[in-house]
Amino acid sequence: MLREGFQTARVGLKDSFPLQLYHKAKKYFWDPRSIDFSVDKESFATLDEGQKEASLHLASLFVAGEEAVTLDLLPLVQVIAREGRLEEEMYLTTFLVDEAKHVEFFDLLIREVAQEADLERFHSVNYKKIFYEELPKAMGRLLDDPSPEAQAEAAVTYNMIVEGVLAETGYYAYYRAAELLGQQGVKLPGTLEGVRYVQRDESRHIAYGIYLLSRLIAEIHPYGKWWSGE
Ligand SMILES: [Fe+2]
Ligand SMILES: [Fe+2]
Repeated sequence: MLREGFQTARVGLKDSFPLQLYHKAKKYFWDPRSIDFSVDKESFATLDEGQKEASLHLASLFVAGEEAVTLDLLPLVQVIAREGRLEEEMYLTTFLVDEAKHVEFFDLLIREVAQEADLERFHSVNYKKIFYEELPKAMGRLLDDPSPEAQAEAAVTYNMIVEGVLAETGYYAYYRAAELLGQQGVKLPGTLEGVRYVQRDESRHIAYGIYLLSRLIAEIHPYGKWWSGE
């Protein structure tokens, strides 16, 4: 495929919604290794067996979910790049590094606080349906089929279901567990600091998914242009 020219050499970057998300991602950059888990580690040791199991269960769903979205995002980045959407691709480069940091954060949390291996035992049939089947299928489809319909399926599965419904429910579980444990004097400052950073990153990811779906609907639905106000 030959290149016809360069956007930056003709009109420059467009101050679009994806470019704003890109600037936000740079502004709110954080390092999982700068989080101090020492209090969390002491707190974990004081939990009873049921509480330890529940906390490992939640962490196991997140760490594998973050691994899945890190591994599965690339086909979407490829499709967007091939369409020449420079600002969107610039944002997606931050999106991918966000997901890598989320893997790192939950991996650190598990290894430093709980020192536990083998967490796949927590992955239920429903969890496997999404993360072992539907997500890789929807994202992998883009490798051979870059159609708007395939992109919409990817955005619904990845951004709306996994990042929207599932992850948002997971943050609530973390905040609720921290609240209940806090009433017993158990503190989890490192965990909560990281979960807040992850949630802030994910709010940009979901916002991008909504933007992408709106753009795709405008392109493929007969009423789309009217809906999008164009
Ligand atoms: Fe993530
Ligand atoms: Fe995400």
